Amino acid sequence: MSVEEAKLRAAKAAVNEVSDGSILGLGTGSTVEYFAKLLGEAVKRGLRVEVVPTSYHSVQMAIENGLKLTPLELVDHIDLVVDGADEVDPSLNMIKGRGAALAKEKVVASMAERRVYVVSYDKLVEKLGVSKPLPVEVLPFAYRYAMKTLSRMGCKPELRMAGRFKDGPLVTDNGNFILDCYFNGIDDPQRLEVEVKRIPGVVEVGLFCGLADVVYVGKPDGVDVLRRVK
Ligand code: A5P
Repeated sequence: MSVEEAKLRAAKAAVNEVSDGSILGLGTGSTVEYFAKLLGEAVKRGLRVEVVPTSYHSVQMAIENGLKLTPLELVDHIDLVVDGADEVDPSLNMIKGRGAALAKEKVVASMAERRVYVVSYDKLVEKLGVSKPLPVEVLPFAYRYAMKTLSRMGCKPELRMAGRFKDGPLVTDNGNFILDCYFNGIDDPQRLEVEVKRIPGVVEVGLFCGLADVVYVGKPDGVDVLRRVK
């Protein structure tokens, strides 16, 4: 079974979490794309839901799938967030931010009563930050200072470049830059989250510790449901 099928399985499991009349934080990324499509089908069958986006990507997904959008600024309460992740450890700490949407994703997750993550089996790791970098969103004018400070914390930070359609750095939905920080494994994610957040110029760090309530893991033989021990 392909990784894409695994993502679809995880997304299907999360659709059952959405109750009628709820306000839903919609995450970012390819696994959430499957979820948004399935949610759109449920809405056509009569499910009522208002969607709070975590990025321009999730705005697009909502529009494409006929989901009613509500801006974050207009809600005081979010019932449920469904989002993807780049890495998930056994304590359900996560690395997020490959899609550069980490800042709004973390605000939406922090406002939500219940936080559900959908991943394919390849996202599970014993230790965060061994094979993938930790994304850190920084104010553009502070990026070199932040890089130097992060290097002293034991990683190799790289300024993320935009790629094919723009020269120079990638610019986030918030007008900032992303530093991809290569650690040889992160021993204490909670501590690192606090320490990186403290660097002047850092907007947000892609460590999501203690936020996931449930992670649906799509696998070749079904879906694993991982719940946070409170
Ligand atoms: C967006 O910034 C990320 O946090 C995504 O949630 C994450 O990259 C998951 O994306 P995929 O589902 O495409 O792997």
